[in-house]
Amino acid sequence: MQTNNNCIVIFGASGDLTHRKLIPALYNLFKFGRLNQFSVLGVARTELNDETFREKMREALLQTEETTPETLDAFCSHLYYQAVNTSDAADYGKLVPRLDELHNKYQTNGNTLYYMSTPPSLYGVIPECLAAHGLNTEENGWKRIIVEKPFGYDEKTAKELDIQIHRFFKEHQIYRIDHYLGKETVQNLLVLRFSNGWFEPLWNRNFIDYVEITGAESIGVEERGGYYDGSGAMRDMFQNHLLQVLAMVAMEPPAIINANSMRDEVAKVMHSLRPLTQDDVEHNLVLGQYTAAEIDGKEVKGYLQEKGVPANSRTETFMALRCEIENWRWAGVPFYVRTGKRLPARVTEIVIHFKTTPHPVFSQNAPENKLIIRIQPDEAISMRFGLKKPGAGFEAKEVSMDFRYADLADEQVLTAYERLLLDAMKGDATLFARTDAVHAAWKFVQPILDYKETGGRVHEYEAGTWGPVAAEKLIAKSGRVWRKPSGKMKKKV
Ligand code: BG6
Repeated sequence: MQTNNNCIVIFGASGDLTHRKLIPALYNLFKFGRLNQFSVLGVARTELNDETFREKMREALLQTEETTPETLDAFCSHLYYQAVNTSDAADYGKLVPRLDELHNKYQTNGNTLYYMSTPPSLYGVIPECLAAHGLNTEENGWKRIIVEKPFGYDEKTAKELDIQIHRFFKEHQIYRIDHYLGKETVQNLLVLRFSNGWFEPLWNRNFIDYVEITGAESIGVEERGGYYDGSGAMRDMFQNHLLQVLAMVAMEPPAIINANSMRDEVAKVMHSLRPLTQDDVEHNLVLGQYTAAEIDGKEVKGYLQEKGVPANSRTETFMALRCEIENWRWAGVPFYVRTGKRLPARVTEIVIHFKTTPHPVFSQNAPENKLIIRIQPDEAISMRFGLKKPGAGFEAKEVSMDFRYADLADEQVLTAYERLLLDAMKGDATLFARTDAVHAAWKFVQPILDYKETGGRVHEYEAGTWGPVAAEKLIAKSGRVWRKPSGKMKKKV
């Protein structure tokens, strides 16, 4: 087992992600005794010093985390700051004595984790500037670099970015973070499937009718209109988070759980996605954009009125797609995937719809067998099936058997960023996206990007609804309907 004693260098230390996610994650790891010898060096253009950086991080932690003055002081004493002009290679020279000093002080043997929490335009620049000072070489301790989403903007730019980073860091040093893979419930999919004898025999085209994956959010684009408009639901959620979830549902069991065999199976799924044709993007894809509405008595802006969004934007805030996986296990089973902002609930879930019995003995409307895997919130797994309605006759009604994560109250569950930061420090890349899978995912979505570029239709939907009517029609073509989940799972029966 590798040591996680190291210095964590955060580029973009004055930005939002640092104080909202990274510092709180590191704080909790520290609080739970998962970090021992470590230091955090914040790096950005803003002129701060160790004290002012600590003060800012302390304020952020006080707002979101449960703290005690002692733990807060102890944690903050590990924080340091170095102002650097991040696009000027010479300026990175300032990091050399700082890192020497910190490695000596904390006995961290030169082990360094770089985190690029910066605008993507710097993802190619930072590795080159680090290399200019030998800060990428592993002669004295390991050097790893975490790259935040978006990894490229399309297939071509993702490849270019890879080439840029690979000039200075080898693949084993690169950790592409997709925070969905850090979610406990996403990882649980593997355990659910591969550690139980009864799911796997049914987990294929012989028994499964179709699969639904929903990543719904009730919030709009908030303060991120500028970023979001260049991205849209496809790049923001679908190409990465939802395709990764789909891969977890569809992958073959790896021979062993390690970074390579796991990621081999994920990559195979991405490569097996049936390429989207012109007919698919016209008939099996729906893009949408929310319009203003009143929700719970409050006026909610439409996407075009959001800050940072051009008044004529055609960026989609919703997308639904019917796709297929061309392999032995899944041939012919449709996967319906949708995501959107300003939908009625915040809920991420997977629904496995099983085929009905070959002959309806009791009634034509016997309930479907479904397995609902709730990723968030109210994390749960629910099996839905039919049982006899009490009374005369043989009418079936739907009942459920539920498991809720909250019932494991005594277990300490790491948040996605806590888990992934810890894994990167330990050198475990299992839950990080590998370059081949990322490229295959971009390749798969390229026809959608082309469709958007060439004026493909973007439907309107009212904020607070389940997306455009066209999305209902998309699934209704095969006589199916989307599940309309609420934020809460049904109570136990
Ligand atoms: C981010 C997207 O990657 O994921 C956001 O950029 C989105 O737009 C977020 O809101 C959703 O993450 P979660 O963990 O809240 O489902």
